[in-house]
Amino acid sequence: MTIWNLGSINADMVYGLPHLPAAGETLAADGLERFLGGKGANMSVAGSRAGSRVSHIGAVGPDGRWAKDRLTEYGVDTRFIAEVDVPTGHAIIAVDAQGENLIILYPGANHALDSAQIGKALASANTGDILVLQNETNAQVEAARLGHELGLTVCYAAAPFQAQSVQEVLPYLDFLILNEVEAEQLRQETGLDAAELPVRHVIVTLGSRGARYLQQGCDPVDFAAHKVQAVDTTGAGDTFTGYVLAGMDRGMPMEQAILQANRAAALMVTRHGTADVIPDLREVRDAQLD
Ligand code: RIB
Repeated sequence: MTIWNLGSINADMVYGLPHLPAAGETLAADGLERFLGGKGANMSVAGSRAGSRVSHIGAVGPDGRWAKDRLTEYGVDTRFIAEVDVPTGHAIIAVDAQGENLIILYPGANHALDSAQIGKALASANTGDILVLQNETNAQVEAARLGHELGLTVCYAAAPFQAQSVQEVLPYLDFLILNEVEAEQLRQETGLDAAELPVRHVIVTLGSRGARYLQQGCDPVDFAAHKVQAVDTTGAGDTFTGYVLAGMDRGMPMEQAILQANRAAALMVTRHGTADVIPDLREVRDAQLD
Protein backbone atom coordinates (compact mmCIF):
# COMPACT_ATOMS: atom_id res chain seq x y z
CA MET A 1 0.00 0.00 0.00
CA THR A 2 1.02 3.62 -0.37
CA ILE A 3 0.68 6.70 1.83
CA TRP A 4 -0.20 9.68 -0.37
CA ASN A 5 0.75 12.87 1.42
CA LEU A 6 -0.56 16.24 0.20
CA GLY A 7 1.89 18.21 2.28
CA SER A 8 4.08 21.23 2.77
CA ILE A 9 7.78 21.37 2.06
CA ASN A 10 9.79 24.02 3.90
CA ALA A 11 13.32 25.14 4.46
CA ASP A 12 13.50 25.26 8.26
CA MET A 13 15.82 27.99 9.52
CA VAL A 14 16.33 26.98 13.13
CA TYR A 15 17.72 29.56 15.56
CA GLY A 16 18.87 28.47 19.02
CA LEU A 17 17.94 31.10 21.61
CA PRO A 18 18.34 31.41 25.40
CA HIS A 19 14.58 32.07 25.62
CA LEU A 20 11.74 32.74 23.20
CA PRO A 21 11.64 36.47 22.36
CA ALA A 22 8.96 38.75 23.81
CA ALA A 23 7.18 41.37 21.69
CA GLY A 24 9.61 44.16 20.83
CA GLU A 25 12.66 42.26 22.10
CA THR A 26 15.88 41.98 20.05
CA LEU A 27 17.72 38.78 20.83
CA ALA A 28 20.96 37.29 19.45
CA ALA A 29 20.80 33.60 18.46
CA ASP A 30 23.37 31.10 19.73
CA GLY A 31 23.31 29.29 16.40
CA LEU A 32 21.55 28.76 13.06
CA GLU A 33 21.01 25.51 11.14
CA ARG A 34 18.96 24.71 8.04
CA PHE A 35 16.89 21.53 7.85
CA LEU A 36 14.34 20.05 5.50
CA GLY A 37 10.95 20.63 7.14
CA GLY A 38 7.30 21.42 6.74
CA LYS A 39 4.71 19.32 8.53
CA GLY A 40 4.07 17.49 5.26
CA ALA A 41 7.71 16.70 4.47
CA ASN A 42 8.31 15.65 8.07
CA MET A 43 5.40 13.19 7.91
CA SER A 44 6.58 11.82 4.56
CA VAL A 45 10.07 11.20 5.93
CA ALA A 46 8.67 9.67 9.14
CA GLY A 47 6.39 7.35 7.13
CA SER A 48 9.25 6.33 4.88
CA ARG A 49 11.65 5.75 7.79
CA ALA A 50 8.94 3.67 9.45
CA GLY A 51 8.97 1.35 6.45
CA SER A 52 6.08 2.56 4.28
CA ARG A 53 5.99 3.58 0.66
CA VAL A 54 5.22 7.32 0.66
CA SER A 55 4.34 9.47 -2.31
CA HIS A 56 4.49 13.20 -1.61
CA ILE A 57 2.18 15.64 -3.44
CA GLY A 58 3.48 19.18 -3.05
CA ALA A 59 5.34 22.04 -4.63
CA VAL A 60 8.68 23.81 -4.43
CA GLY A 61 9.95 26.94 -6.13
CA PRO A 62 13.05 27.46 -8.29
CA ASP A 63 15.08 27.58 -5.05
CA GLY A 64 13.71 24.23 -3.82
CA ARG A 65 15.44 21.61 -5.91
CA TRP A 66 17.56 20.62 -2.89
CA ALA A 67 14.42 19.86 -0.84
CA LYS A 68 12.99 17.59 -3.53
CA ASP A 69 16.36 15.84 -3.89
CA ARG A 70 16.59 15.33 -0.17
CA LEU A 71 13.12 13.78 0.01
CA THR A 72 14.18 11.42 -2.78
CA GLU A 73 17.34 10.52 -0.81
CA TYR A 74 15.12 9.74 2.16
CA GLY A 75 13.13 7.23 0.11
CA VAL A 76 10.05 9.36 -0.64
CA ASP A 77 8.48 9.27 -4.12
CA THR A 78 8.80 12.87 -5.39
CA ARG A 79 7.27 12.43 -8.88
CA PHE A 80 4.21 14.46 -7.85
CA ILE A 81 6.09 17.44 -6.42
CA ALA A 82 5.63 20.32 -8.83
CA GLU A 83 8.28 22.96 -9.51
CA VAL A 84 6.45 26.29 -9.61
CA ASP A 85 7.40 29.90 -10.08
CA VAL A 86 6.85 30.85 -6.42
CA PRO A 87 9.59 30.70 -3.76
CA THR A 88 9.77 27.49 -1.72
CA GLY A 89 8.02 27.69 1.65
CA HIS A 90 10.16 28.37 4.66
CA ALA A 91 9.87 28.45 8.42
CA ILE A 92 11.76 30.60 10.89
CA ILE A 93 11.97 28.49 14.02
CA ALA A 94 13.18 29.72 17.39
CA VAL A 95 14.10 27.00 19.90
CA ASP A 96 14.79 27.89 23.52
CA ALA A 97 17.03 26.20 26.07
CA GLN A 98 14.11 24.03 27.28
CA GLY A 99 13.39 22.76 23.75
CA GLU A 100 10.18 24.78 23.29
CA ASN A 101 9.72 26.55 19.97
CA LEU A 102 7.90 29.25 18.09
CA ILE A 103 7.46 29.10 14.34
CA ILE A 104 6.86 31.75 11.68
CA LEU A 105 5.68 30.23 8.40
CA TYR A 106 6.03 31.59 4.89
CA PRO A 107 3.80 29.28 2.78
CA GLY A 108 5.22 30.21 -0.66
CA ALA A 109 4.96 27.31 -3.11
CA ASN A 110 2.94 25.26 -0.60
CA HIS A 111 -0.08 27.37 -1.60
CA ALA A 112 0.50 26.96 -5.33
CA LEU A 113 -0.76 23.40 -5.81
CA ASP A 114 -3.26 22.85 -8.59
CA SER A 115 -6.15 20.43 -9.07
CA ALA A 116 -4.66 18.74 -12.11
CA GLN A 117 -1.54 17.85 -10.15
CA ILE A 118 -3.57 16.32 -7.31
CA GLY A 119 -5.89 14.49 -9.71
CA LYS A 120 -2.94 13.07 -11.62
CA ALA A 121 -1.26 11.83 -8.47
CA LEU A 122 -4.37 10.26 -6.95
CA ALA A 123 -5.25 8.61 -10.26
CA SER A 124 -2.34 6.29 -9.46
CA ALA A 125 -3.70 5.44 -5.99
CA ASN A 126 -5.36 2.14 -5.16
CA THR A 127 -8.40 1.52 -2.97
CA GLY A 128 -7.18 1.07 0.59
CA ASP A 129 -4.19 3.41 0.19
CA ILE A 130 -3.89 6.21 2.74
CA LEU A 131 -4.23 9.91 1.92
CA VAL A 132 -2.95 12.34 4.54
CA LEU A 133 -3.38 16.12 4.63
CA GLN A 134 -2.30 18.87 6.99
CA ASN A 135 -3.19 22.54 7.06
CA GLU A 136 -0.09 24.02 5.38
CA THR A 137 -1.14 23.65 1.73
CA ASN A 138 -4.04 24.79 -0.40
CA ALA A 139 -6.55 22.36 -1.98
CA GLN A 140 -7.12 20.22 1.13
CA VAL A 141 -10.90 19.98 0.78
CA GLU A 142 -10.73 19.05 -2.86
CA ALA A 143 -8.10 16.38 -2.17
CA ALA A 144 -10.04 14.98 0.80
CA ARG A 145 -13.22 14.72 -1.28
CA LEU A 146 -11.38 13.03 -4.13
CA GLY A 147 -9.59 10.65 -1.77
CA HIS A 148 -12.91 9.71 -0.16
CA GLU A 149 -14.53 9.10 -3.56
CA LEU A 150 -11.61 6.88 -4.56
CA GLY A 151 -11.98 4.73 -1.44
CA LEU A 152 -8.75 5.87 0.21
CA THR A 153 -8.38 6.07 3.99
CA VAL A 154 -8.44 9.85 4.43
CA CYS A 155 -6.42 11.24 7.37
CA TYR A 156 -6.10 14.80 8.58
CA ALA A 157 -3.44 16.11 10.92
CA ALA A 158 -5.08 19.35 12.03
CA ALA A 159 -1.96 21.48 12.20
CA PRO A 160 -1.56 24.42 12.16
CA PHE A 161 -5.04 24.26 13.69
CA GLN A 162 -8.02 26.17 12.30
CA ALA A 163 -11.44 24.96 13.38
CA GLN A 164 -12.97 25.99 10.06
CA SER A 165 -10.43 23.98 8.04
CA VAL A 166 -11.20 20.88 10.11
CA GLN A 167 -14.93 21.34 9.63
CA GLU A 168 -14.51 21.61 5.87
CA VAL A 169 -12.74 18.24 5.55
CA LEU A 170 -14.63 16.48 8.36
CA PRO A 171 -17.25 14.77 6.09
CA TYR A 172 -14.47 12.94 4.22
CA LEU A 173 -12.30 11.82 7.12
CA ASP A 174 -11.53 8.34 8.43
CA PHE A 175 -8.84 9.54 10.84
CA LEU A 176 -8.22 12.83 12.64
CA ILE A 177 -5.32 13.79 14.86
CA LEU A 178 -5.26 16.96 16.94
CA ASN A 179 -4.09 18.10 20.37
CA GLU A 180 -6.28 18.61 23.43
CA VAL A 181 -6.43 22.42 23.16
CA GLU A 182 -7.51 22.05 19.52
CA ALA A 183 -10.06 19.39 20.46
CA GLU A 184 -11.57 21.88 22.91
CA GLN A 185 -11.60 24.64 20.27
CA LEU A 186 -13.31 22.25 17.86
CA ARG A 187 -15.87 21.36 20.55
CA GLN A 188 -16.67 25.06 20.96
CA GLU A 189 -17.22 25.38 17.19
CA THR A 190 -19.14 22.14 16.56
CA GLY A 191 -20.67 21.34 19.96
CA LEU A 192 -19.09 17.86 19.66
CA ASP A 193 -16.52 16.28 21.95
CA ALA A 194 -13.66 14.44 20.23
CA ALA A 195 -15.43 11.13 21.01
CA GLU A 196 -18.59 12.34 19.26
CA LEU A 197 -16.96 13.44 16.00
CA PRO A 198 -18.19 11.52 12.93
CA VAL A 199 -14.71 10.07 12.28
CA ARG A 200 -13.77 6.40 12.75
CA HIS A 201 -10.38 7.01 14.39
CA VAL A 202 -9.45 10.11 16.41
CA ILE A 203 -6.19 10.64 18.28
CA VAL A 204 -5.94 13.51 20.75
CA THR A 205 -2.31 14.18 21.61
CA LEU A 206 -1.64 15.24 25.19
CA GLY A 207 1.92 16.63 24.92
CA SER A 208 4.29 15.18 27.50
CA ARG A 209 1.35 13.15 28.93
CA GLY A 210 1.01 11.04 25.80
CA ALA A 211 -2.07 10.47 23.62
CA ARG A 212 -5.69 9.31 23.76
CA TYR A 213 -7.14 7.06 21.06
CA LEU A 214 -10.85 7.25 20.38
CA GLN A 215 -12.35 4.66 18.10
CA GLN A 216 -16.01 5.08 17.22
CA GLY A 217 -18.15 2.84 19.39
CA CYS A 218 -15.28 1.90 21.77
CA ASP A 219 -13.96 3.22 25.08
CA PRO A 220 -11.04 5.68 24.86
CA VAL A 221 -7.55 4.22 25.33
CA ASP A 222 -4.74 6.32 26.86
CA PHE A 223 -1.06 5.94 26.04
CA ALA A 224 1.53 7.47 28.36
CA ALA A 225 4.48 9.29 26.81
CA HIS A 226 8.03 8.13 27.50
CA LYS A 227 10.01 10.34 29.85
CA VAL A 228 13.01 11.83 28.06
CA GLN A 229 15.17 14.95 28.29
CA ALA A 230 13.73 17.13 25.50
CA VAL A 231 16.13 19.41 23.62
CA ASP A 232 13.83 20.34 20.71
CA THR A 233 10.15 19.45 20.34
CA THR A 234 9.93 20.68 16.71
CA GLY A 235 8.64 17.97 14.38
CA ALA A 236 7.90 15.46 17.17
CA GLY A 237 4.16 15.61 16.46
CA ASP A 238 4.78 15.10 12.74
CA THR A 239 7.03 12.13 13.54
CA PHE A 240 4.28 10.65 15.73
CA THR A 241 1.70 11.05 12.96
CA GLY A 242 3.98 9.64 10.25
CA TYR A 243 4.68 6.57 12.40
CA VAL A 244 0.98 6.05 13.18
CA LEU A 245 0.15 6.22 9.48
CA ALA A 246 2.93 3.80 8.61
CA GLY A 247 1.61 1.41 11.25
CA MET A 248 -1.89 1.64 9.77
CA ASP A 249 -0.48 1.20 6.29
CA ARG A 250 1.37 -1.92 7.35
CA GLY A 251 -1.77 -3.42 8.89
CA MET A 252 -0.84 -3.00 12.57
CA PRO A 253 -3.63 -2.69 15.13
CA MET A 254 -3.93 1.01 15.96
CA GLU A 255 -2.80 0.44 19.56
CA GLN A 256 0.47 -1.08 18.35
CA ALA A 257 0.98 1.73 15.82
CA ILE A 258 0.53 4.33 18.58
CA LEU A 259 3.00 2.58 20.89
CA GLN A 260 5.61 2.62 18.14
CA ALA A 261 4.80 6.24 17.25
CA ASN A 262 5.19 7.21 20.92
CA ARG A 263 8.70 5.76 20.92
CA ALA A 264 9.60 7.57 17.68
CA ALA A 265 8.33 10.91 19.04
CA ALA A 266 10.21 10.43 22.32
CA LEU A 267 13.43 9.85 20.43
CA MET A 268 12.76 12.81 18.15
CA VAL A 269 12.54 15.35 21.01
CA THR A 270 16.06 14.35 22.09
CA ARG A 271 17.41 15.60 18.73
CA HIS A 272 17.89 19.07 17.24
CA GLY A 273 16.24 19.55 13.84
CA THR A 274 13.33 18.36 11.73
CA ALA A 275 12.97 15.92 8.78
CA ASP A 276 16.68 15.17 8.50
CA VAL A 277 16.90 13.75 12.02
CA ILE A 278 13.67 11.72 12.21
CA PRO A 279 14.62 8.27 13.59
CA ASP A 280 14.25 5.13 11.52
CA LEU A 281 12.49 1.97 12.56
CA ARG A 282 15.63 0.27 13.85
CA GLU A 283 16.55 3.26 16.05
CA VAL A 284 12.98 3.34 17.35
CA ARG A 285 12.98 -0.35 18.18
CA ASP A 286 16.47 -0.29 19.75
CA ALA A 287 16.02 2.91 21.81
CA GLN A 288 16.33 2.47 25.58
CA LEU A 289 13.19 4.24 26.79
CA ASP A 290 11.43 3.95 30.14
O1 RIB B 1 5.89 20.79 12.87
C1 RIB B 1 7.14 21.33 12.59
C2 RIB B 1 7.13 21.98 11.24
O2 RIB B 1 6.25 23.10 11.28
C3 RIB B 1 8.46 22.55 10.81
O3 RIB B 1 9.22 21.63 10.08
C4 RIB B 1 8.08 23.80 10.05
O4 RIB B 1 8.48 23.81 8.73
C5 RIB B 1 6.58 23.95 10.21
O5 RIB B 1 5.89 23.50 9.11
